[in-house]
Amino acid sequence: MCGIVGCILKTDKAAPVLLDCVQRLEYRGYDSVGIATYSSSGIKIRKDKGKIDEVSEELHLEELPGEVGIGHVRWATHGLPTRENAHPHTDCEGKIAVVHNGIIENYKELKDQLVSEGHQFLSQTDTEVIAHLIEKYHKEGFNLEGAINKAISKLHGSYAFAVISTDEPNKIMGVRKESPLILGLGDGEYFLASDAPAILQHTRRIIYLADHETFTMDEDGITVKDRNGQIVDKKVETIKWTPEMAQKGGYSHFMLKEIHEQPEAVKNTLSEVSDIENIVSQFPQFKRITFVACGTSHHASLVGKYLFEALLGLPTDVVLASEFEFSEGAIDPDSLVIFISQSGETADTLKALKIANKKAKTLAIVNVLGSTATREADYVIFTRAGPEIGVAATKTYISQLTCIYLLAACMGKNRELLDELQQIPDYMKTVLLLEEDIKEMAAKYKDAQDFFFIGRGFSYPTAMEGALKLKEITYIHGEGYAAGELKHGPLALIDDDVPVVAVVPPGKSHDRTLSNVEEVKARGARVIGLGSEDDQVLSYEASDMIKFPSQIRELISPLLYVVPLQLLSYHMSVQRGIDPDKPKNLAKCVTVE
Ligand code: F6R
Repeated sequence: MCGIVGCILKTDKAAPVLLDCVQRLEYRGYDSVGIATYSSSGIKIRKDKGKIDEVSEELHLEELPGEVGIGHVRWATHGLPTRENAHPHTDCEGKIAVVHNGIIENYKELKDQLVSEGHQFLSQTDTEVIAHLIEKYHKEGFNLEGAINKAISKLHGSYAFAVISTDEPNKIMGVRKESPLILGLGDGEYFLASDAPAILQHTRRIIYLADHETFTMDEDGITVKDRNGQIVDKKVETIKWTPEMAQKGGYSHFMLKEIHEQPEAVKNTLSEVSDIENIVSQFPQFKRITFVACGTSHHASLVGKYLFEALLGLPTDVVLASEFEFSEGAIDPDSLVIFISQSGETADTLKALKIANKKAKTLAIVNVLGSTATREADYVIFTRAGPEIGVAATKTYISQLTCIYLLAACMGKNRELLDELQQIPDYMKTVLLLEEDIKEMAAKYKDAQDFFFIGRGFSYPTAMEGALKLKEITYIHGEGYAAGELKHGPLALIDDDVPVVAVVPPGKSHDRTLSNVEEVKARGARVIGLGSEDDQVLSYEASDMIKFPSQIRELISPLLYVVPLQLLSYHMSVQRGIDPDKPKNLAKCVTVE
């Protein structure tokens, strides 16, 4: 949460560039924004709470002078969204400005100490201690680099921060520890950001910092040092993502664009098959699998459980990353622990990965190149979804599922499944053609207060994911339930005010889920049925029906049946006047536990 950016340019237009960069990072936080630039008149800061466009219109952030600057979008963790708490933060004299993403766990002790030494704080944030610590050590005689290193030695927690100072102008220094940070090399110009989409329009040549690495950028280039102060010869990687991939491209929202990019995302991820075969050939004989993830990635993991058990006969567990430390007992050296994370930076997932690395082989399935999970796991598979800007995961979910299916097919040497997967992009294009019908359906159901989503077996995770999308972007309460569990309690909640979305593909679970559809109908519920185009019984029972090509069997249905549910929530969100790209209280990358 929170995004930081910085740049050193050849012209004095750092502020408009920084504004553009933070706008592209707005998915990482959107309760406050701020920019600091350095020019001959010193450091100037403009910042406030609110969305970037509103703050910018009010304060004209782009008018700040200077070639060098840093910027920030905030998703509040310590201190309310207020002007004072917005970044950048400064030392007492306004000679040092800092932007930070992460959490300084021991900031209270540090703040008390600094206050007792006469430092005056203006905010409730943890970040402000960084500026004051640097000031303190600078005044004790350290140069900027020394003062930053000394400050780092006092900090506990996770952080990526960038600093500018009037005493050593025209440079930006900073560090990364357990929060993402990349550096970009342009043509005599240099950039930093929490995530690549922020700077793609300026450069695709990226340096990925490792934990504890510090950097200095000035007009002559970038120097990276390890925690012992030794210069590290960093590889410059050229990323394939284009700036267009991180723009709306004619769609009204990123989320809608990303839903429509799913056939392409599946196709790109399918092209990873030889890398996956290669990884699988290195596997020892595993006796059990454990998937670990959060949120939507957790739902992909649940599909993984049904699939691995059905195809490989391997005992497969799914553990929420935030629960892993309380439930790690079952893994041992014969286990493969699979971590699923689109960002590769989710704090809960990274913590679980650290624990699992000590006991078992680990595999990370990740969308972001160079992210922390990719460096910590024993094996890594990339989903090829491209940048996902909408906060609600859509195409990254589909790409995660595609990877899981590829992995199961490769581990089970299942040629038939590999061939079947090739057809998914075309099926998906057919399913996306349902959008107009789904938009009309959204208008019919958008005022309901509560929804149930039900399914069995492979359709249970789809029901869970449908409910999560609904909650996230429409703010309507939705419960994803195993259809067979309804009668064990929640049936008491069903009446004609509670629509039920029933996921009923053709296959083993079909008839029993259909019985549950009848049960909820008998209690007055309107049912939206998802099933095969030739399923006349479901069509008859459901108030509204979303029809899929009949060739889509239950085992592959999670890859397709979730798509109309994404569209349903999207259109309900827009019709309810909500911005689905920026749901309240949520951020794209959750770097706190
Ligand atoms: C929901 C959503 C979240 C994420 C979760 C894990 O739409 O995006 O539930 O799935 O925060 O994030 P990653 O996959 O980055 O670890």
